[in-house]
Amino acid sequence: MKHRDHSRLLADLRGEYARRNPRSSELQARALRHMVDGGSHTLRLLEPFPPRIAEAAGAFVTDEDGHRILDFWQGHYANLLGHNPPELLGALQEGLAAGRGLQTGFTDRLQVETAELLCRLTGTERVRFTTSGALATMYAVLLARASTGRDRIMKVGGGWHGAQPWALKGVDFHGENHSQFQHVETKGLPQAIAREVLVTRFNDPEMLEGLFRRHGGEVACFIVEPFMGAGGFLFAEPEYIALARELCTRHGTVLIFDEVISGFRFHPGAVSQLYGVQPDLATFAKAMGGGMPVAAVAGRAELMKMAGRGGGVKFSGGTYSGHPAGMLAARTMMAHLETHARQIYPRLAALGEHTRRAVEAAFASEGLHAACTGDGNRVVPGSSLAMVHFPYREATRFRSPEDTHNPDVCDVALSETVVQMALLLEDVFVVHGLGSLCTAHTEEHLERLAEACRRAARRIKASL
Ligand SMILES: Cc1ncc(COP(=O)(O)O)c(C=O)c1O
Repeated sequence: MKHRDHSRLLADLRGEYARRNPRSSELQARALRHMVDGGSHTLRLLEPFPPRIAEAAGAFVTDEDGHRILDFWQGHYANLLGHNPPELLGALQEGLAAGRGLQTGFTDRLQVETAELLCRLTGTERVRFTTSGALATMYAVLLARASTGRDRIMKVGGGWHGAQPWALKGVDFHGENHSQFQHVETKGLPQAIAREVLVTRFNDPEMLEGLFRRHGGEVACFIVEPFMGAGGFLFAEPEYIALARELCTRHGTVLIFDEVISGFRFHPGAVSQLYGVQPDLATFAKAMGGGMPVAAVAGRAELMKMAGRGGGVKFSGGTYSGHPAGMLAARTMMAHLETHARQIYPRLAALGEHTRRAVEAAFASEGLHAACTGDGNRVVPGSSLAMVHFPYREATRFRSPEDTHNPDVCDVALSETVVQMALLLEDVFVVHGLGSLCTAHTEEHLERLAEACRRAARRIKASL
């Protein structure tokens, strides 16, 4: 398959961007002197340089060059209430002013209340807090390996569980030799990881059954996102989730749901509750903390107790685990989402639906076929997430990252790179083609997004 060449258009877009952002450009030159590639998270470091943000409020961020940018990235999808929402900011300001914001090195009432709330809302028995999604999934895998005495773990191709040892195989799509999602993505890992991590295809029951038939007795855990984030904004089919539960129970394998994105995103709790399937362990972060670095591993008491005294799993340390400001944010967010669930979630779902269809229509109106993933299914009534793809065939059905990330199936360079830069020139920020809705977004913002997509589509179409 011959891929489209966008290099000339991209060079033009980047040139225009560089001209209208002298201050961010200057900061990039300074950043490069002290930070690798100028920052600390690859996704934020778009080329030729990222917009450096000076202010953030609600649906918008303002960059150093004074552009007020409509933001659909929203803090890596954490900011369900938008940037710096007053509900959260008020509680944090009050906490800090009262001397309850920095780490004390003690535990307190707030931690107890946050744990009570998380367990009640997610239907889990025990929780331990940490500071990032990657640490949470790493500890969950450690608990599974320790409790089963097995080495192998199973994950889904395209599944992103953070930069931790067992999650760094099978993340990116590799076309050569049809290896697809079988690569170890980083140097520096123990060799055993390549053998210990088995990669299966999302929403593929036959492959899952086959792997369990061959390796079931050796597999400590199956870690899976019921809603795939970076893998393409795809919901697991309910039958797939039920099968995963059944196979894990039959083979004595720990089922881990990575709910770092899905937790509190679709209702005030775990998405597993909507599927009616209870994992053994689950991880939460992002929306739960509304923009503060707080994460959790929660699950069955019998498994979680391995993290405790005498349990043998060193799910310990963490100078900032259970950090007061993180706990305050998590308690405030969870309580707010529960109290206002009836207003928040249906509205977010309606905005999500409107976004997906409006963006598809905008590209279609200029003769470009775009398809958005992120639609709910029969168990998750609606969704506030959207990812744009440009499939070469209109009838393409998206079930797994093998569909969304294969450059022979979709114009991946267009959705990942060209659209991002073209929309940024319209003062709209997207990642992976689009992103997440928050309560600060309005119908008017979506009109603006659609108009920006039409203008971007016109430029793209003219360059093909
Ligand atoms: C599903 C999922 N799990 C884990 C992580 C890692 O979380 P963090 O970036 O907080 O380490 C991410 C991050 O995007 C994620 O999307």
